[in-house]
Amino acid sequence: MSLNEQVESWLRDRTAAFSVSGRPFVTLTYAQSWDGSITTRSGETLCFSGQETTRLTHQLRSLHDGILVGIGTVLSDDPQLTVREWEGVNPQPIVLDSQLRTPASAKVCHHPDKRCWILTVSGAHNSLSEIAAIITLDIKSGDQDEVPLLRAMSTLRARGIRSLMVEGGASVITSFLKAELVDAVVLTLSPRMVGGYKAVDGLLAVGEKTVPSIVSVHSCQVGDDVVVWGDLKYSGHSA
Ligand SMILES: NC(=O)c1ccc[n+]([C@@H]2O[C@H](COP(=O)([O-])OP(=O)(O)OC[C@H]3O[C@@H](n4cnc5c(N)ncnc54)[C@H](OP(=O)(O)O)[C@@H]3O)[C@@H](O)[C@H]2O)c1
Repeated sequence: MSLNEQVESWLRDRTAAFSVSGRPFVTLTYAQSWDGSITTRSGETLCFSGQETTRLTHQLRSLHDGILVGIGTVLSDDPQLTVREWEGVNPQPIVLDSQLRTPASAKVCHHPDKRCWILTVSGAHNSLSEIAAIITLDIKSGDQDEVPLLRAMSTLRARGIRSLMVEGGASVITSFLKAELVDAVVLTLSPRMVGGYKAVDGLLAVGEKTVPSIVSVHSCQVGDDVVVWGDLKYSGHSA
């Protein structure tokens, strides 16, 4: 089986077997250097994906109902979040943006067939509401100022998102892992050393020793890139 067939078959099995109610199945997908960097420290956009792994990313997008990034990624990369290098339907674009900093010119707000959903905690709606669907979530006492992920996930599920691809960046990846909301990971490893901004940082609280692990690991080399994928298992949870 080709890489694309392997990953699609695995993902379809996983999403079909997913039985947690009240939230979508969440796949974390990103590309990093061998030293775990997803970009340089100064934030220059680095393209870690080759032609084949870019096609895989677009295929993965087509296999999910929604695709989510943080406002940091919108501001630095201005992604379209559409399926262009694969035959398939565009997932619903979703941005985590507490303070409504998404520029009206952002490509996600000018999507070919979907109105971008912006998840925020800000009550002060601006002109963005003319071109995007602003979804405001309540902050409860004890919450940080960021978008509360558990509430965000139940809101997305109530709106019909059964599977969600989380494409980054680092803060969002770390938040999903901390909240134990990741079910599967597809990672592209690019044979470079960057010494830059790490995909996952500050995951463990002080004194905590258990880390999430990836089980049922699969891998495939494509050119010099290696794609690895598997299920995320949190200590004390079944796979
Ligand atoms: N290599 C790859 O595959 C890949 C993929 C994607 C991105 N990237 C890179 O990642 C970098 C961006 O990463 P980043 O960490 O700066 O930004 P990010 O993770 O894209 O966005 C982080 C921002 O999202 C907002 N946010 C709202 N709710 C959140 C929550 N619950 N958890 C976390 N964030 C929340 C926060 O801003 P507010 O408080 O203002 O809401 C936060 O600062 C870029 O340089 C981009 O090139 C690489």
